[in-house]
Amino acid sequence: MQIAIYGAGYVGLVSAVCLAKLGHHVICFDTNVAKINFLCAGQCPIYEAQLPEMLNEQMHNGQLKFTHIIEDITAADIHIIATGTPSLADGHADISQVLEVAKLIVHRAQDDVILVIKSTVPVGTADKLDDLLKQELITSQKGFCCHIVSNPEFLREGTAIKDFLFADRIIIGGAEYGLLQLKTMYQPLIKTGIPIISMSRNSAELSKYSANVLLANKISFINKISEIAEAYAANIDEVSQGIGLDRRIGSDFLQAGIGYGGSCFPKDVRALTQIAQVKNIDATLIQSIDNVNKVQQKWAVTQLSKHFANNNLSLKIGIWGLAFKPGTDDIREASSIEIIKSLLKCGARLNLFDPVALINTQELFAAETAITWSKSACEVLEDHLDALIIATEWPVFKNFCLHTLKEKLGYAPIFDGRNCFDLMKIKAAKLAYYYSVGRPAIKYSEE
Ligand code: UGA
Repeated sequence: MQIAIYGAGYVGLVSAVCLAKLGHHVICFDTNVAKINFLCAGQCPIYEAQLPEMLNEQMHNGQLKFTHIIEDITAADIHIIATGTPSLADGHADISQVLEVAKLIVHRAQDDVILVIKSTVPVGTADKLDDLLKQELITSQKGFCCHIVSNPEFLREGTAIKDFLFADRIIIGGAEYGLLQLKTMYQPLIKTGIPIISMSRNSAELSKYSANVLLANKISFINKISEIAEAYAANIDEVSQGIGLDRRIGSDFLQAGIGYGGSCFPKDVRALTQIAQVKNIDATLIQSIDNVNKVQQKWAVTQLSKHFANNNLSLKIGIWGLAFKPGTDDIREASSIEIIKSLLKCGARLNLFDPVALINTQELFAAETAITWSKSACEVLEDHLDALIIATEWPVFKNFCLHTLKEKLGYAPIFDGRNCFDLMKIKAAKLAYYYSVGRPAIKYSEE
């Protein structure tokens, strides 16, 4: 099939590459000229496993093209909208880019259009868009139809290609003709046994939010339990294992830590709160997921304050990990950013390192003179730190030699926000102070 994708962001780019891999002819449009030029030169603008190789492979064999010129899209069996829907100040998702692109597609069309919404949009958006476009088609006396299908995406950063090609399920919402076209597009994946579920557009849109919010809920839940575990000297890892083996609960997304970040969970929890509230539905349950997360992002700073009881925190602090999770260079709503801002306010000097997210963080704190940008995990430790915080569980940190860590840190405490280390190993390495989330603190004294 000929497929046009609008938006070369994270979802648009991964979908474009994967649909090309499935044998379709894909053209991906974005108004960001610099990004398109970068892509046309075979460069990948985001850090994502397998993406650069597949991008080049599909461009090389002629299945995939990029453009910033709308006229380059001459014909397409399916038009996929994958533009951003950022949060507005009140939590609502801003769908203006989606609407703008949809109008543009219909305006340029000469014949029936299959329009797919992949962007995460508030429930009811596709139906509203349908009414709007129907009206436009009548007004402009165009004698054709626009079939709108909602097709939410469930990709995770870091494993996006795998999540697309080996999805747990594909969700499509809309009327029969549009759904039929999408089933044809996804045929190569359906043949491998991936279930495809047809439903109404509103259900598809609500499924997307519900999946993300339920996952965020699991994280906030286990983080709340971790606070209780800390107070009662229980171990959250044991609790996670204990409850996760119940098949009704499942062990995924029960890793306690310093909260969730990224471009999806924080935004989608706030958006679903709004979606409920505009219909006068009490959203306390959903809102509390966000509230718990905000407190959890402060865990490391709270523990630091407790440890250095009367000190004003104008200390030298190392931070390992800046990305909102391993496998990505994305720092949007990352817990590390909250920690950095709080510590800078307290007058701390910081040594920072991340294997891939350093450049993005440098851009954010370009004017900050209290930050030293280290080139390795080891370099962070070179400067007689007062404390070390671990904010992202990159393998390079998890596999770091504990004896070297002890030697470099001396009596400086570790605040492990991602529970990277086994407590027995920490004890054996005789680290002076080790604090982790929801697990007993480890303290070692020479006497
Ligand atoms: C999330 C969803 O997992 C995807 O299914 C969805 O498609 C995507 O949002 C989206 O809407 O586009 P993503 O934001 O890439 O994917 O990242 P996740 O792997 O879900 O992790 C989100 C955050 O939760 C990270 O900060 C991570 O550190 C944290 N997390 C995750 C925990 O704190 N504990 C866990 O047990 C799991």
